[in-house]
Amino acid sequence: MTFIDVAGTARTVDSPAGMSVADAALNHRIPGIEADCGGFCACATCHVYLDEEWFARLPAADELEAAMLDTETLDRRPGSRLACQLKLSDALDGLVVHTPERQYL
Ligand code: FES
Repeated sequence: MTFIDVAGTARTVDSPAGMSVADAALNHRIPGIEADCGGFCACATCHVYLDEEWFARLPAADELEAAMLDTETLDRRPGSRLACQLKLSDALDGLVVHTPERQYL
């Protein structure tokens, strides 16, 4: 999968199926993903943006993730998701996510 930052720098990493996108980012020291709560959907510091194509291929955010995405500290956009709630799979091979300029507004 690939992380693209606001400057357009792409970082492609190889991570196993079943791992969350947040853990893939932390394991590869991807800038812009903090994941302060350790993946428990409680901090919203793993916010990422998906392109329309990838967003449509993923299951919708559950109630808890949707509530966290509504927090006022996020610059929420149509492709917003929390990386800790996105699990890598063979179906998501080649996933591209964009990291925000910062996790807090
Ligand atoms: Fe805290 Fe995702 S790591 S909400």
